[in-house]
Amino acid sequence: MTQLTQLLAELQERFGADADAAIGEQALENVRVAYLGRNGEVTKIRRTIGTLPAAERPGAGKAINDAVAAMEERLKAAQAAVESRAVDAELAASIDVTFPAIAPAAGSIHPVRRIIEESCDYFMRHGFAVVVGPEAEPDYYNFDALNIPSDHPSRESFDSFWLTDSVLLRPHTSPMQIRTMQEHRPPIAIVAPGKCFRRDALDARHLFQFHQVEGLLVADDIHFGHLKGMLTGLCRELFGSGQRVRFRPSYFPFTEPSAEVDTTCPKCRGESAEGRCSLCGGSGWIELGGAGMVHPNVLREVGYDPDVYSGWAFGFGVERLGLARYRVDDIRRFISSEPDFLAQLS
Ligand code: PHE
Repeated sequence: MTQLTQLLAELQERFGADADAAIGEQALENVRVAYLGRNGEVTKIRRTIGTLPAAERPGAGKAINDAVAAMEERLKAAQAAVESRAVDAELAASIDVTFPAIAPAAGSIHPVRRIIEESCDYFMRHGFAVVVGPEAEPDYYNFDALNIPSDHPSRESFDSFWLTDSVLLRPHTSPMQIRTMQEHRPPIAIVAPGKCFRRDALDARHLFQFHQVEGLLVADDIHFGHLKGMLTGLCRELFGSGQRVRFRPSYFPFTEPSAEVDTTCPKCRGESAEGRCSLCGGSGWIELGGAGMVHPNVLREVGYDPDVYSGWAFGFGVERLGLARYRVDDIRRFISSEPDFLAQLS
């Protein structure tokens, strides 16, 4: 009897393994016939019942029937598995693997970011360090230390967003000149990119939130020629050699002498009749920003002796550089959230 139980257990196990291994309906049917068919394994065992003592026969018959019932259950599960595999195969056959794939949307670096990176790269190659600072500044860093006393009319030219009576969203990156000079002794060579804010009405050349790249070099014997050379080099790097650059005398309280730096209007190339070009207003140039030799009062404020040290500084609008670099005719397109347009600018 125990011998029979063991035999049946082994048989069920083999049957299970064969049923699982069967690929396709025909293979499974072959397994069924081999075990449960008329001349299958089970029948062979059934035939041995007659050799048992009469008292054991009913028990043996029941054990065999139980085993058959379990094997039939198992067979059903295997049939279901074979069927679902058949459906998968059908599905796989219906997929055209040569069909062009859907390209993943890769995105692109924003042109403003790219110009900041390329500008910093240019200056780093010349030994400058990149520094960043706060976007909200006490008026001391933004005005007083930059030689703009509280009653000075040029405060008005920075039409600013004030957060409190004495803290404002910085309208330029020049406070970074003061912060850097207060922390370090000359020689100083830094670029400071970052966001700036002004209460300007939006138009083709103005945003109320924009970016500047500030630069500062202070050492012995620095003169205006160094400034012109570095800024002309920057424009060449960003725009190629075709783009013209001019330095126009100007005024900033924190530089003396001061200049505004312009480049050829990317839209009309300086060829529009007076007043016609919507980007440059017909002047043929667009302003990139300001520059000049650091004012002695600024050097004094941070404890440098202006008789020993001299330096230059500049602050360029990054979006303005973008207009020239990409020949875009409206600065607002940089904040337009048009990924297809922005991706074209590289
Ligand atoms: N901070 C000035 C501006 O935003 C630009 C500037 C920077 C001018 C450094 C001179 C020197 O208008």
